Order: sequence, then C-alpha cells, then structure tokens
Amino acid sequence: MNKKTLNDIDLKGKKILVRVDFNIPIKNGEVGDDTRIRAALPTLKYLLEQDAALILTSHLGRPKGETKPEFSLAPVAKYLGDLVQAPVKFANDCLGEVAQTAASALKAGEILLLENTRFHAGEKKNDPAMAKELASLADVFVNDAFGTAHRAHASNVGVAEHLPAVAGFLLEKELKYLGEAIANAEKPFVAILGGAKVSDKIGVITNLLEKTDQILIGGGMANTFFKAQGFEMADSLVEADAIETAKELLTKSSGKLQLPVDVVIADDFTEQAQSKVVPIGDVPAGWRILDVGPATVAAYADILKSAKTIVWNGPMGVFEFPEFAKGTFGVAAAVAASDAVSIIGGGDSVAAIKEAGLGDKVSHISTGGGASLEMLEGKILPGLAALADK
Ligand code: 3PG
Repeated sequence: MNKKTLNDIDLKGKKILVRVDFNIPIKNGEVGDDTRIRAALPTLKYLLEQDAALILTSHLGRPKGETKPEFSLAPVAKYLGDLVQAPVKFANDCLGEVAQTAASALKAGEILLLENTRFHAGEKKNDPAMAKELASLADVFVNDAFGTAHRAHASNVGVAEHLPAVAGFLLEKELKYLGEAIANAEKPFVAILGGAKVSDKIGVITNLLEKTDQILIGGGMANTFFKAQGFEMADSLVEADAIETAKELLTKSSGKLQLPVDVVIADDFTEQAQSKVVPIGDVPAGWRILDVGPATVAAYADILKSAKTIVWNGPMGVFEFPEFAKGTFGVAAAVAASDAVSIIGGGDSVAAIKEAGLGDKVSHISTGGGASLEMLEGKILPGLAALADK
C-alpha cells in the first residue's frame, strides 16, 4: 500500500483522533452485531500500547444533521469499555466546548468516544470548519473506518488536511484484500456475484470482467440476464430498464459470465410458499425464481474447486427463507472448502457466510458494504486518497 500506516509514524504519548466505523445496529440502547467494533480493536490496542490518548469519532445511521437520541453512540462507549476492560469516556457532542474540554483532559492510555458526527450537517458536506475543529482536538489522525471510506465527509476526509494522517490496521487489511489481492490475483480468479439488481452491480461486473477468469451469477439479477436472453420469467423479479445493459454485458463478457442452469421457483413470495426445482425457461405463470438450483450449486462448486482467488458479493437467492437458502449456503460451503484466497465483500454475503458458520474458513470478510462494492468497481475511495503517501 502506498499510504502511510501506523507503522510509519511516531505515536508515542500523542493525542490521536481515530475515525472508526461504529455504524452498527443498536436497538433499544443495546448493541447488535458488534463485528465493526471488534474489527477496530487491533488498532485501538496498538495505540494504547504506544501510551497514546485516543479520541474516537464515528457516525451512526442517517440522522440528517440533527441530534436524535436513537442515533446516539453512548451505548457503544459502554460496550467498547467492556471489550477493552477499561472505562471509555463519552462526550455528547463531537464539536464545541464539550468535545474540547473532554479531549484536552484526556490522558495517555485513555479512550474518549465523541458523539455521532452526523448530528452536525457539516459532516456530510465535508465542511472545512468542522474538519478543522475536529483536527484541533489531536496531534495525529488515524483513519480505520473502512466502511465509510467511500464517503468524502469532514471526519474522514476534511480532517486529514490538518493533521499527519495515516491508515489504521483495519483499513490496511481491507485494502490488502479488496485492493492488492484483487489487483494481483492469482489465477484462476473467480467472482461470485448475486443480489437483486443488475443495476447495482454494473460497475462491479464491468471492472471484474477485465480481471477475472469467470463470474458466477446468482440472485435476482440472474433473472434480468435470462430475460435478456429471451427466457420467460413469469412473476420473477426482472429489472425492465436494465435488460439492454444485461445484453451488452453478456456480449462483452465473451463467455466469462456464467448463469444458473436450474432454479428454485415458488408460487408466492413467502416462507411457506410451495417450491420446486426447474430448468431455466420452465417457470410457469404465477411462479417466481427465489434461488439457484442444486445443479447450479454443483456446477459453481466445481468451478470454485480449482480457483486460486475468489471474491463473493451478494446472495444467490432469498436466503432469509430456509427453503430458498440452499443456493447461497451451498455456494458458501464451496467457497469455504476451496484453498483459494477468498474475499467476502458486502452485507448479505457476509451475513450468509457467518450464518452458515463458515466465517473462519475464508481469508477475509469485509466490514464494508458500499465501500467494498466501490473497491470491487475499481474506484479510488476518498477516505483512502486523503491519507499521507508513503
Ligand atoms: C456503511 O454502513 O455502509 C457505512 O457506515 C456508511 O454508511 P452510509 O451509507 O450511511 O454513508
């Protein structure tokens, strides 16, 4: 990586502003999935070992520039305190006197979490005054918020103009996999792309067509490709205005795009719906495709067996319903069984691999949703671009 990291800078006894991504589910004041908090721990622990004083910032949800108690980070301060087994102080504003007083009183080895940066409208506008004020709290800026790196906001981009700015360990690790491992992928390189919409994945498919040997398609987006090939999709989800794009991608792919050979169909979009496995082209009126079929899982597993690099984004079907989860879990098992460098990027496929209990059988599970997708599109993320070059 050509950006400075924690190992490139003296941090001893310094006050460090650490941008983390603690945008996590919180219900009735209770922390839900804590993956993103745990993912920040290596950086936080390392900084504490350097006798640094840590001022953490994050956003939570989309409060639209207003203070809304349901988006408060206060429950995270307590939760993080339990994880690091030390009190984590909390300031109920990331700006103004509250933040300044708390930050200047902070001693070496202590942690302070500032309230949600998005309680200020300046955050999303990358307001220079907000960025400057945040920067004034510390000596060094560490960005470890990979999940937010595709946003150009005051607390991750603007602030980097005012302080020595380096990447934390999580950011470094995400870039090692979603950046370097993909750019220099050992071949055969196979991508698995699913999810509902082709329109969400055009950039990813276009970028990965240039890098991969094969792209295995599943999920609702496969239907739009089938429609583009002239198959009857009955009540299946099809993106009418993406059919032309799907045709173009198929032409451009020169055989690299693999589509399912069979599908699981349902007579209703419910968990209890009747289901059956049919070949493509045999979807009767009133039925819809909700998963890839067993022959597809077998064919995809066969391709994955010899892969040396795998990247997976998006489920193969409606895996929230057990009857239509076999495709996604079957592919998850094939990824886990392979010896390839395996990279799981983005919300639903991460949930699926964890639900399948296979999280520890893959090389990397990204903490980013939109950020990992933009990496797969080959974009340069502003949060990363803002950091100091090596
Ligand atoms: C995410 O969860 O993808 C990041 O925290 C960014 O959140 P946002 O989509 O609300 O900007």
